[in-house]
Amino acid sequence: MNSESNIKIPKLYFDNDANLDLIQSTKVAIIGYGNQGRAQALNLTNSGVDVVVGLRENSSSSAKALNDGLVVKSISDATQWADVISLLIPDQVMADAFNSEIKESLKINQTILVSHGYNVHYKQIQPPDFIDVIMVAPSGPGKQVREEYVNGRGIPNLIAVHQDYTGNAKDIALSYSKAIGGTRAGAFFSTFKEEVETDLFGEQVVLTGGIPKLIQSAFKVLVEAGYQPITAWFVCYYELKTIVDSFHQKGFAFMNKAISDTAEYGGKTRGARLINDSVENEMRTILKEIQTGKFFDEWSKESEKGLPNLQKMRENDRKTLIEEIGQFVMNQIANKTIIKK
Ligand SMILES: NC(=O)c1ccc[n+]([C@@H]2O[C@H](COP(=O)([O-])OP(=O)(O)OC[C@H]3O[C@@H](n4cnc5c(N)ncnc54)[C@H](OP(=O)(O)O)[C@@H]3O)[C@@H](O)[C@H]2O)c1
Repeated sequence: MNSESNIKIPKLYFDNDANLDLIQSTKVAIIGYGNQGRAQALNLTNSGVDVVVGLRENSSSSAKALNDGLVVKSISDATQWADVISLLIPDQVMADAFNSEIKESLKINQTILVSHGYNVHYKQIQPPDFIDVIMVAPSGPGKQVREEYVNGRGIPNLIAVHQDYTGNAKDIALSYSKAIGGTRAGAFFSTFKEEVETDLFGEQVVLTGGIPKLIQSAFKVLVEAGYQPITAWFVCYYELKTIVDSFHQKGFAFMNKAISDTAEYGGKTRGARLINDSVENEMRTILKEIQTGKFFDEWSKESEKGLPNLQKMRENDRKTLIEEIGQFVMNQIANKTIIKK
């Protein structure tokens, strides 16, 4: 038995574990109508929940929400109307909006719901003690949350309770998860701290940091060695999707069965050389920066200054050969597909 087999697997909650009546008997304000706002508002509405969308004055999202048949109110009116207030605006503006338009309007027994615990965990949002504060975080983008729901499926949800004033916080969270399709796929309980720290770590080390950087470096090494950029792009970038789809569906063992022995042997021996102790140590340093709030402070300062470093990095990325080749090939493939049709 290896050490991993001793790990306690958390309980997964499915539709039978959640009571839809709870959320159906409340009024839900969805603050923001972007990626998650639109998906969750429409899924809740289709699940028989009374929903209003709360938007700032002259919001560009207003027409979309009205067009989808939803009622739109100002953020403070929506807050006063609702039992559950779901904050679905960008994390970097959420605390300001909460403090200026929501906090003062809150009443006893209401619920604040978030889909990411960032502002609560880092104390940018300090809710009064007479309300519930919960998280229902879909493990996927809003578009998928909606598409899966419409197709009778769902996206798994991470659920957490930060403050349970009413004693019903857990049940409300499960009920909301059921209404957006989360418990169709499975929901599990975590904490705000765990969600925030692991979410940032996953992004930085794997999803939006490690993988893109690995692809860019591998592409650079091949091109520097004299190989055609188009060939380098196909092997280091394009083929990634097939591999990810394969292990995402059924695990690494399944992926290994679908590839050649040469690919498996080369991958296992060279992969371990590449992602070695020094990389793991850097991962530990990155995790510490998240846990101690160092990353939070850095990102807050960058946001306050209007994102100068992020803009510069975006500009640099736009000019890279891998982007140019990618755009060129994708455009060619798209044109070809259109012509064929
Ligand atoms: N992206 C995802 O799919 C995803 C996945 C899991 C969790 N989450 C979490 O879900 C939450 C929402 O993320 P999102 O990606 O859905 O956000 P988003 O699409 O960027 O949100 C856009 C909406 O927020 C409104 N908004 C923007 N700035 C505002 C401000 N200063 N005051 C009031 N309203 C403002 C916009 O209205 P206007 O038209 O007026 O600009 C628009 O309706 C975040 O906590 C995020 O971490 C997101």
